[in-house]
Amino acid sequence: MYLICQTDDVQEREARGFDTPLGEILITQRDGSFFAYKNICPHLQVSLEYMEDQFLDMDKEYIICSTHGALFNVEDGECIWGPCQGESLTKVDIEIHSDGGIYLQGSRES
Ligand code: FES
Repeated sequence: MYLICQTDDVQEREARGFDTPLGEILITQRDGSFFAYKNICPHLQVSLEYMEDQFLDMDKEYIICSTHGALFNVEDGECIWGPCQGESLTKVDIEIHSDGGIYLQGSRES
């Protein structure tokens, strides 16, 4: 099983980066749901943030790439503005368990 973090570690309209067996990912919370993506911009395959855990735009509405400012929907990762418009971040499947942990999906031993 791979525990990424606790739900308390990612507050509503905040985002954080984590190192996982799948590489660097980001997790953000919106309207009580958690969304996770690989920390790779589909434009130039670089990391999204310029400072630690700075993954959201100023209004905390979209995920933003710091290199050329591409904006991505939180809910589906689609780029809605910028040089990679129409492309998407790579979704990472996560599971929330009753212990409050956020796990990589399928990584929990039964
Ligand atoms: S590298 Fe992300 S928008 Fe260009």
